[in-house]
Amino acid sequence: MIQFLIDEERCIQCGECAEDCPAGVISMEDYPTITNEDGCYRCQHCLAVCPEGAVSILGRNPDASTGLEGNMPDAASMETLIKGRRSVRRYSDKDLDPALIDELLDIANHAPTGVNSQSVLFTVVREGAVMKGLRQEVLAQLTQLQNNGKLPEGIAGQYLGAAVDGWRDAGKDLIFRGAPHLLITSAPQDAPCPAQDTLIALTTFQLMAHARGVGTVWDGMVMMVLGVCPGLSARLGIPADHLLGYAMAFGEPAVAYHRTVQRSPARVNVVR
Ligand SMILES: Cc1cc2nc3c(=O)[nH]c(=O)nc-3n(C[C@H](O)[C@H](O)[C@H](O)COP(=O)(O)O)c2cc1C
Repeated sequence: MIQFLIDEERCIQCGECAEDCPAGVISMEDYPTITNEDGCYRCQHCLAVCPEGAVSILGRNPDASTGLEGNMPDAASMETLIKGRRSVRRYSDKDLDPALIDELLDIANHAPTGVNSQSVLFTVVREGAVMKGLRQEVLAQLTQLQNNGKLPEGIAGQYLGAAVDGWRDAGKDLIFRGAPHLLITSAPQDAPCPAQDTLIALTTFQLMAHARGVGTVWDGMVMMVLGVCPGLSARLGIPADHLLGYAMAFGEPAVAYHRTVQRSPARVNVVR
């Protein structure tokens, strides 16, 4: 049941909800009506596009949405956020406020997903103490693999070997970068676009995190670890039928960047 309800006192019969419905399941009689409930994407465009707040769907009260007029960040702020974000590799060992982590995850959950499947799973390490234990577990497993000559050949083996050496010789955490928190996105293999959805969710999380003063780093090392420690995904509670998206370490930065970097121009291929 999608609970599509029109407040007829507010509805001005403009037809915007029917016009914007990507599934084409709203028709205008006198007032909007649903022609095919099963075809609904549950995207809530009807609720979002109504100029009068007359549409409720999925039990959502339109008055509980954030109004958009005059409320969007300006382009200059967005540009500074995007250009000013850096991969953070130095963290304070203070835990983030759990409410802030929940807020960031909730916002990241607004990222688009193919066919609006909304099936991304956010696997998160919310406490530094848990992270500490995980770090020990992972480094113990990697050390064992190294001792048994079982680290893979090639670049992954080299990086992981260096991480084991750095941990053993200098207490340096090249895997998680000393971050107190970790996020891994995954999605069911049979979702319409699991690879894309998981990466878009992490990208969204990352930008919002930086807007709130939280540092992040995309963590390819963790992905390599997941590749060589087959039991680790299950240990983290990631369902076996999920495609792993990517990992991101995060936490309160112990470094401040004072200016943007200056990248070379974008490589652009113009189609004529
Ligand atoms: C897919 C991906 C994987 C990455 N893996 C790691 C990693 O394992 N460890 C690390 O310190 N940085 C990692 N990075 C960060 C990149 O090295 C970083 O984005 C790049 O050097 C540019 O720096 P910036 O992000 O500060 O602009 C990764 C970035 C991406 C996009």
